[in-house]
Amino acid sequence: MELKDGHYVIQGVPVTAIAAQFGTPLYVYDAEKIVSQFNTLRMVFSNADVKIKYAIKALSNLSILKLLHKHGAGADAVSIQEAHLALKAGFSPDEIMFSPNCADFSEIEEAVKLGLTINIDNLSYLKKFGAQYRSAYPCSIRLNPHILAGGNYKISTGHSESKFGISVHQLPQILDIVNQYNIRVSGLHIHTGSDITETEVFLKMAEIFFSVATDFPDLSFIDFGSGFKVAYKEGDAVTNMFDLGLKLTESFNEFCRQYGRKLELWFEPGKFLVSEAGILLAKVTVVKNTPSITFVGVNTGLNHLLRPMMYDAYHHIINISNPTGEDKQYTVVGYICETDTLGADRKLSEVREGDILAIKNAGAYGFSMASNYNSRLRPAEVLVLNNEAKLIRQAERFEDLLDGQIELVL
Ligand code: LLP
Repeated sequence: MELKDGHYVIQGVPVTAIAAQFGTPLYVYDAEKIVSQFNTLRMVFSNADVKIKYAIKALSNLSILKLLHKHGAGADAVSIQEAHLALKAGFSPDEIMFSPNCADFSEIEEAVKLGLTINIDNLSYLKKFGAQYRSAYPCSIRLNPHILAGGNYKISTGHSESKFGISVHQLPQILDIVNQYNIRVSGLHIHTGSDITETEVFLKMAEIFFSVATDFPDLSFIDFGSGFKVAYKEGDAVTNMFDLGLKLTESFNEFCRQYGRKLELWFEPGKFLVSEAGILLAKVTVVKNTPSITFVGVNTGLNHLLRPMMYDAYHHIINISNPTGEDKQYTVVGYICETDTLGADRKLSEVREGDILAIKNAGAYGFSMASNYNSRLRPAEVLVLNNEAKLIRQAERFEDLLDGQIELVL
């Protein structure tokens, strides 16, 4: 979204017009931005055989999946339902990484039947997998590197107290099981968390991979997970993708020479691809002056965008109805009946009831974490593609809240 001739536009389409056409609350995504982020990733790692597996969990709308697939992405699924969404969107089974945590083993069996790449993240399942498939079906192993990284403890996955992966200190047990059942380990995987700014974290992961890889002669890929950080506000620290691309591909290629074979370099980004491409549009329902604060109440809340309340995440908010108004101080709050702050003490150009606010960086973990709390309906989603706003999910209707409920005769 950019300000052009006094109006906020996406690919030239005025955002207020999108709000008027489809109503609010509304998620709006910019296809051009998603594709340009994807191309940046491919470019910075172009000196290696890089494969980008889009983390479906960030935003799982079929049209978004199709868009990324069309431009050459694979997919990273963490539930069998996400895997089915990816298949429906046109990904072939061999393009899908299945990387669940604590899912029932039957999901892994189903994923094998579907022909997906399987990523195993605990010793018990590795044993079960080996006993069942032996060398007939390969798998990848998710390691826990004991690295604390990421923007928030809740989204750090690679530290010693995290439930994810098999500890690198349990390598002897991994190898015992692999040898006992003759398992073909085709990949190694680490995902340390989300919102990682330091290149060094990825280089440390590389060291760990490279130190254990010689124990696994059948590798075809190494998966560095994701965690690339984008800016949520002006001046925010971000992952320096060019620095990372340069240093990581260099050490990866050197490793491949030592390993004796060219391997594929995998990543599974979510935020990097879709965060900045999305906004959540909301209508100002009430401007409420108290002796100390001016609240701006809107027709959305933590039911649609959980990140501010769940992670104390900052999402920039803009009054797109009044781009040239005088800046004033507001606290923007949602309509959910508990503390529901979308942005505290923010400068916004003067807000009037009925104005449309755009909450930025809402593409990743926005709609995908939305709920029906307070029996509110989930909003519609729109994709701006080729300079045209297209509906890609209709807003829920009241009937959707009743769907599946069984009313007892009382
Ligand atoms: N790969 C695996 C195995 C993951 O668990 C995740 C995210 C990703 C890739 C993608 O990470 P990303 O590129 O999006 O940083 N709901 C939280 C983020 C949770 C991330 C969970 N795993 C948030 O809104 O910040």
